[in-house]
Amino acid sequence: MQFWYKNLILSRIYLITILILPQAEPLSQHLFALEPKRWRPLRTKLSPVFTSGKLKEMFSLISECGDYLVKYMEKIADKNEPVECRELTAKYTTDVIGSCAFGIEMHALSNEDSEFRKMGRKIFVSSWKNILRLRIRQMFPWLYEVLGHIVSPTDVTKFFIRVIVETIDYRETNNVIRNDFIDMLRELKKHPDKLGDIELTDHLLAAQAFVFFVAGFETSSTTMSNALYELALNQKVQDNLREEIDEAYVKYNGDLKYENIKKMNYLDKVFKGTSSAKKVRCFFFFCFSFNDFTT
Ligand code: HEM
Repeated sequence: MQFWYKNLILSRIYLITILILPQAEPLSQHLFALEPKRWRPLRTKLSPVFTSGKLKEMFSLISECGDYLVKYMEKIADKNEPVECRELTAKYTTDVIGSCAFGIEMHALSNEDSEFRKMGRKIFVSSWKNILRLRIRQMFPWLYEVLGHIVSPTDVTKFFIRVIVETIDYRETNNVIRNDFIDMLRELKKHPDKLGDIELTDHLLAAQAFVFFVAGFETSSTTMSNALYELALNQKVQDNLREEIDEAYVKYNGDLKYENIKKMNYLDKVFKGTSSAKKVRCFFFFCFSFNDFTT
């Protein structure tokens, strides 16, 4: 297997690892990895952020990002060059998660130098430095954790801790209320007793924001780019879907709100088809990858 391909797999495993090393990687203490004692109260307090009612409330924000996406696509389509859809959808979902969960305009679509998009790329990039970190982390976690006291945190870690602490402080000082993910973290910071006897640090709060950011932009954007890929391969499906959307657009006078989109059955099938095709591919991808590691 080619080297870059192995690195890609390694960098992803590095991200979803469930080993918590608070000194070396403060952001590793996130929901996905936490032990039951801290996971249970945090999960209970944070999960209401994505109920279906909340999703409906967020719809106008998602739709606004969709308008930016259309503008961006018009711009790149004019160039008449191939479009990197993976990057395109990652920019879109970065803007969505920024707006919905953090109340921050991330400008991933409108600004090529968006800090958040840069961090999103860095999390998944495979570099020699990342591979080395991963190897030491896997083989000598105790040494890695000790080194964490000496080596300064990575750019990504520093960035997320700073952004979350500053955003919470800003809202506190200016009395901004948005009832989003940041407000939930803010509430926990004000009333740490709601979490029982667990120690609530800025690092623990930032780690939850970090996993929401990563899980929020990466999963949805890979699903969307896979859907675009499948549609490019299946002209008939693409035409049918376009027809359904055009019809709905006329029927609802251009008002494609949450309830109206939910009525699009063919769109739902395309989404479900993409997700299951992706799962099958992931399964084989990992089977063959691990097979290859052992040879
Ligand atoms: C196509 C979209 C998505 C897929 C396929 C997906 C899939 C998953 C899966 C399989 C899990 C682990 C199972 C579990 O703990 O229940 C998980 C956990 C999680 N996901 Fe997603 N997800 C998606 C979108 C999102 C989005 C948009 C967010 C947030 C904005 C998000 C945040 C999380 C978080 C925080 C966890 C950890 C939950 C915990 O352990 O308590 N995910 N996701």
